[in-house]
Amino acid sequence: MNVPFLDLKAQHRPLKEEILALWSGILDSAGFVGGEHVTAFEQEFAAACGAKHAVALASGTDALRFALIAHGLKPGDEVITVPNTFIATVEAISQAGGTSVFVDIDPATYNLDPAKIEAAITSRTKGIVPVHLYGQPADLDPIEAIARKHGLWVVEDAAQAQLAEYRGQKIGSRSNLAEFSFYPGKNLGACGEAGAVTTQDADIAARIRMLRDHGQSKKYHHEIEGYNGRCDALQAAALRVKLRHLSEWNKLRRAHAQRYIERLSGATGIALPATAPHCLPIWHLFVIQVDNRDAVQKALKERGIDSGLHYPVPLHLQNAYRSMGLGPGAFPVAEKCASRLLSLPMFPELTGGQIDYVCASLAEIVRQ
Ligand SMILES: Cc1ncc(COP(=O)(O)O)c(C=O)c1O
Repeated sequence: MNVPFLDLKAQHRPLKEEILALWSGILDSAGFVGGEHVTAFEQEFAAACGAKHAVALASGTDALRFALIAHGLKPGDEVITVPNTFIATVEAISQAGGTSVFVDIDPATYNLDPAKIEAAITSRTKGIVPVHLYGQPADLDPIEAIARKHGLWVVEDAAQAQLAEYRGQKIGSRSNLAEFSFYPGKNLGACGEAGAVTTQDADIAARIRMLRDHGQSKKYHHEIEGYNGRCDALQAAALRVKLRHLSEWNKLRRAHAQRYIERLSGATGIALPATAPHCLPIWHLFVIQVDNRDAVQKALKERGIDSGLHYPVPLHLQNAYRSMGLGPGAFPVAEKCASRLLSLPMFPELTGGQIDYVCASLAEIVRQ
């Protein structure tokens, strides 16, 4: 049996006619950037997240960069985040003028460990960027309490957490700015690149709208120097169609995660993902830990099963950040996880039979 890691073709098959009809209208109108679909998607996504405002952007990376710039980040300012994230989190911090300061993660949830934050705060610290990794919210209450105590802002990297919940509240509905990515493989994915920021603050939303459009408040009147970070109409139209299915898709992912957990819970040598109290994850990824990870991945591939590594090298050990001067041992939890993590197939259209096959194969491989 073949089990792909992700099957976007299966997701698009039933939606194709609807998306093509909207794209045909856009082609006829020749309104490719901004326009009614972008505005409507912003309203619909804000409503889905319980946010007052959503600003649609060209990517999640732009969304995080603009959220940080909107907070007035300046050269020399420090931002606390985690080393076990996609590089875009740290690229956005650097490109907004800041310096990333890493804090190690909680070994159970793989998210920022609130108990380790205060030791990393200096007089230059301006904010905290927790990442809701794999679709599970970071522990926002203690993170925000520390931020309040030290006069810091929090910007949530929710690239992987569309409609995840923390204490019964949707991610994006708190007072923090939250950044979302709609890269095609995300739970809500565009048919190209897109992202968004949610906020409860109309002034910040207006500032991010200016930042995405060369700092214009109206055409050719530039209040500030901005960027080209606009969302295009084709992406917004596809996202509107897909957003209507997102809750159902997330429900299916939860059922798949439950099935994986039931099937694998007896297996020795496999550490299963933990759901933190008060969190409703959306299982963007289903990530286990195993010894001899690379050999297990290879053996799965030989049985027709694709898997992924998120992420094999923590950011402080990447060549790109060698200038930080942080070697092995700086963040032991993140480093240990990076060598053991393995992401199993996870997408709404996955079948029970495929999950059972992955679990039986895994149990057999780790027993050998
Ligand atoms: C945690 C995290 N942050 C930021 C991003 C950046 O999003 P994008 O690829 O849409 O620029 C991603 C996307 O892969 C991500 O996974």
